[in-house]
Amino acid sequence: MDLVNNGPAALDETARIFCYENIQPAALADVTAASAFFTPWEMMLDFNQMTQESRSRHLRILDLCAGIGGLSYSHYHFYERDLPKPRFVCVEKNPIFAAVGKRLFPEATWLTQDVFELDESLGKFDQFYSNPPFGPLPKEYRVKGDAKCFQYAVAEIGMKFAPHGLLFTVGTILNWRMHGQNGRTVVPNPIYEDWSKRSGIELRENPGFDFSYIDFADTKTGVELAWVVPRGYEE
Ligand SMILES: C[S@@+](CC[C@H](N)C(=O)[O-])C[C@H]1O[C@@H](n2cnc3c(N)ncnc32)[C@H](O)[C@@H]1O
Repeated sequence: MDLVNNGPAALDETARIFCYENIQPAALADVTAASAFFTPWEMMLDFNQMTQESRSRHLRILDLCAGIGGLSYSHYHFYERDLPKPRFVCVEKNPIFAAVGKRLFPEATWLTQDVFELDESLGKFDQFYSNPPFGPLPKEYRVKGDAKCFQYAVAEIGMKFAPHGLLFTVGTILNWRMHGQNGRTVVPNPIYEDWSKRSGIELRENPGFDFSYIDFADTKTGVELAWVVPRGYEE
């Protein structure tokens, strides 16, 4: 944290990546209360392959529950030099995380805000990213929708602002698995089907990333990266 608090006015790329690789959320906040686990930098290489294909079209990116901004910064960092840099808006409720994020990734616009409080004045985006808290939606948010878990609720919020998104989630809320599988395995899930029909949103499989090589967020069922699209969307 010395590097963040007392380092040079502008951190170079090496220092920023060092911070994203090493800052532990528990050093900044109560991670169990905030369900805050930052995406490990190794996973960003896979994440960036997902963002790679249509980069020249994704110039406005919304990062919901941004933490210290690792997802957006990795996209910014790996972006081809000759393409215009996208603009990022990072929304994070925890003021300490947002302050560290501003220091590490000042090129983004940071909103220290609850994603459930966003409204249309935020504008439109080409893509949203989120690695939100995993688990049931806290009671205080239930009046705002009927999504059963945080990830469904964030997918619904993201789709209000962008035509599609990328969402890290625990596999149990999906109807497929990549984690620890040899390819995609279909897992019938009536709760997902019900939510998908009601919301008009699909959480589709990624092109084949299996994150079982990393013990992220200590989840037993494993983390998946889903492509969030309107139901029935054809590429
Ligand atoms: C699993 S962490 C992931 C952080 C970051 N996206 C990453 O990938 O490293 C989830 C983040 O969501 C934030 N968060 C939780 N509830 C939120 C809310 N209602 N609005 C905005 N941020 C929230 C937490 O503070 C935490 O930083």
